[in-house]
Amino acid sequence: MKKTSFSNDMAEKRKSLDGQKKILMVGLACLDLVNVVDSYPIEDQDMRVESQRWCRGGNASNSSVVLSQLADSVVECLVTLSDKATSQIILQDLEKYGTSHENCVVHPDTETPTSVVIVNKVTGTRTILHGNRSLPELRFEDFDKLSLSKYKWIHFEGRNVTEVLKMIDKINLHNENVSEDDRITVSVEIEKPRIECQHLFPKGDVVFVSKDYARHQGYETAGECLEGNSVHTKDQCRLICAWGEDGAWGRDKDGTLHHSPGFPPERIVETLAAGDTFNAGIVFSLVNGNSLQSSLLYACRLAGFKCGIQGLDVRKFVHS
Ligand code: ADP
Ligand code: FRU
Repeated sequence: MKKTSFSNDMAEKRKSLDGQKKILMVGLACLDLVNVVDSYPIEDQDMRVESQRWCRGGNASNSSVVLSQLADSVVECLVTLSDKATSQIILQDLEKYGTSHENCVVHPDTETPTSVVIVNKVTGTRTILHGNRSLPELRFEDFDKLSLSKYKWIHFEGRNVTEVLKMIDKINLHNENVSEDDRITVSVEIEKPRIECQHLFPKGDVVFVSKDYARHQGYETAGECLEGNSVHTKDQCRLICAWGEDGAWGRDKDGTLHHSPGFPPERIVETLAAGDTFNAGIVFSLVNGNSLQSSLLYACRLAGFKCGIQGLDVRKFVHS
């Protein structure tokens, strides 16, 4: 692929940051077939879409490319990949944004997981039909090969929980044996309403709970969700819950509740990956030592900006 000046700039930026501690995002990379429509299809309809594109998707990889544009740190994405040509779409996009991927695990004879996405321009919804035919999830033995001293922050998308718990145990062991400055901060995302995700609550220094998960637990507001789940988190945890256009709430280490409103763009273009963008904004802001309140404001502004554009090129926000 021909390198654009943007991808050259991002590669230069990555090179200049070599040797510094990195941020690692662990989870899924998949392909998204995004269909933009101006009315939602009805069953059995034969409908033309307004636009259609193939692109890289998956929570961890989406957050990685956003974070790469924000952070003065190398951002690495750790996912499994198929050996098929479809992985090139994923790798080329990571490259474009200067996101490292050198520890990704390639599985022969597998297919790239794929989502068909319907973005309704009028209502702002994004309906996702996701399938994984054969690609295995990342295992502890893959993670175990990393040299943890290279990282300052590791974020886990809440999937394949049994393996992720082992990965976090390894980080905790590492943290017990290094100075405070060299400790790795762990963040986890609890998004899919799956029962095993509850085991992640006590594992993060920062825990993201989604609106879907909160509702699945029976909570009607983010505030109730944060108070209710705070009994399951570890001491000094920051617990965060984004709530679509209403913005996001966060419960601080000392139990104080913070809120940021949503910042809707003039026109909603695409809410796909708004949550992944929000998470990237929080990690970026907290890693730089900002308060939870200002991090919520920053992440909601960033995610609001994303809702006004197609895709995840947030450079205009970064430079605004
Ligand atoms: P997702 O469903 O993608 O996981 P959410 O819907 O919880 O994510 O949204 C994450 C963040 O994105 C919100 O906290 C908010 O800041 C922003 N956001 C999402 N939808 C809108 C919207 N319609 N208008 C403004 N901001 C939005
Ligand atoms: C958006 C997203 C898409 C992907 C889907 C997987 O948050 O990561 O890119 O298709 O969710 O659940």
